[in-house]
Amino acid sequence: MADARPFHWEYVPEAPPPEAFRIEGGRPLRGTVTVSGAKNAALKLLAAACLTGERCRFENVPEIEDVRVMCEVLGDLGVVVEHPEPGVYEVAAGDVDWLFIPLEAAAKMRASFILLGPLLARFGRVIISNPGGDRIGRRPVNLHVDAMRALGAEIEYRNGYYYAQAPGRLRGGEVTFPQVTVMGTENAMLAATLADGHTVIRPAAQEPEVDDLIAFLCEMGAEVVRTAPDTIEVEGRKRLRGARHSVLPDRIETGTFLVAAAVTGGKLTLENAACEHVTALVDLFAKVGVPVECGARAIHIDATGLRPGDLRACDIETSPYPGLATDLQPPTCVLLTQATGTSRVNEAVFEDRIEWLSELRKLGASIDIEDAHHASIHGPARLHGAEATIGDLRAGASLILAALAADGSSLIHGAHHVQRGYENIDRKFQQLGASIVRSADTAP
Ligand code: EPU
Repeated sequence: MADARPFHWEYVPEAPPPEAFRIEGGRPLRGTVTVSGAKNAALKLLAAACLTGERCRFENVPEIEDVRVMCEVLGDLGVVVEHPEPGVYEVAAGDVDWLFIPLEAAAKMRASFILLGPLLARFGRVIISNPGGDRIGRRPVNLHVDAMRALGAEIEYRNGYYYAQAPGRLRGGEVTFPQVTVMGTENAMLAATLADGHTVIRPAAQEPEVDDLIAFLCEMGAEVVRTAPDTIEVEGRKRLRGARHSVLPDRIETGTFLVAAAVTGGKLTLENAACEHVTALVDLFAKVGVPVECGARAIHIDATGLRPGDLRACDIETSPYPGLATDLQPPTCVLLTQATGTSRVNEAVFEDRIEWLSELRKLGASIDIEDAHHASIHGPARLHGAEATIGDLRAGASLILAALAADGSSLIHGAHHVQRGYENIDRKFQQLGASIVRSADTAP
């Protein structure tokens, strides 16, 4: 059985029509922006609704491509997904007759693998495609598979698919991860809610999105408790009920707008923002010298008084929550291009998430990429308009940030990566005074 090896697909999903961002930089952003619901919570909540046949309702769901893809994958399984108004989704998984997640779904969105736990736990079997790697690293799923086996599942790997079954019911047990994994923790937790007996998950990821999922599961009647910062315990139930939930604010979008204000010398109020979820970033802003003020459900940032040379270089290292999120490494690097001195970057979570810095260099940043995990940023750099290409979601948002800070016009190819995870990013920036349009990309 060839299990948990890196798997490199030749399959390439149909590419959306090419679009690019055209940005005229150098305008300070000003005003108020409302942070959307968190992508990385919404996707798991939608999957969790498969744990019951009763209707679940979600509010504050971001209107993004990944949510659309997840709804499409659920629809293909026979789950009824309704979208009565913007930001609201209702999911009824009464008749799920097709327990198969094809390669096409997995190739479009790695997060479709989160369906393994709920489908296996409720229906006792599922065939699910290996999601393979993506632009930020190899990203295997061995830890998800091991967690299901620790709960009694039998899983075989053949021709790119995991064939999983749990004759009878999954059994509660000890799920011990060799390293912290966000979706691995969530998959184990989802599966354990319907298992027979008690499950202990350790080390459990501490990301706020995991706790949002715990809150929803408890609303469904599950017994899930974080008994220590890195431990989640689950007492399995025979069935769960429908529930409703409002998705927590997106802390990565929050960080993206904070950096946007800082690098354009702007002044912003972020509404529906949870400052307590971006503490590592706010601490970093304090070290770098950008004033940020936290209020109840709002964050204020005023960079209008800053002059070139005022910001101080700072070394950063990404790590699981509560450390600096790997998803905030790209925006933070844009901030550090404006700081005086050399900032060392250690991307400790993913391999290959440093590569995008070569695109940032095209806008005038002075960066040495040392290896797959390390780089040095020398600042302050005077950024200038340029043409660059987006390789993944967070790098894409960060190239936009650099172009907003730069003098002159930029053309940023690969806009579709950004709409996977940021709701109306171009419209939100326009409302803050930015000159940004998304349009058909006619470049070769
Ligand atoms: N890992 C394994 N085996 C596994 C699972 C993970 O080796 O079976 C490794 C990964 O390769 C990585 C590390 O463990 O080096 C941590 O990965 P993790 O499992 O925590 O990542 P994930 O759950 O797949 C989620 C987010 C990512 C975010 C990471 C880290 C979702 C849908 N995705 O991914 O978000 O970067 O946690 O915080 O929740 C994004 O939103 O742009 C994004 C990439």
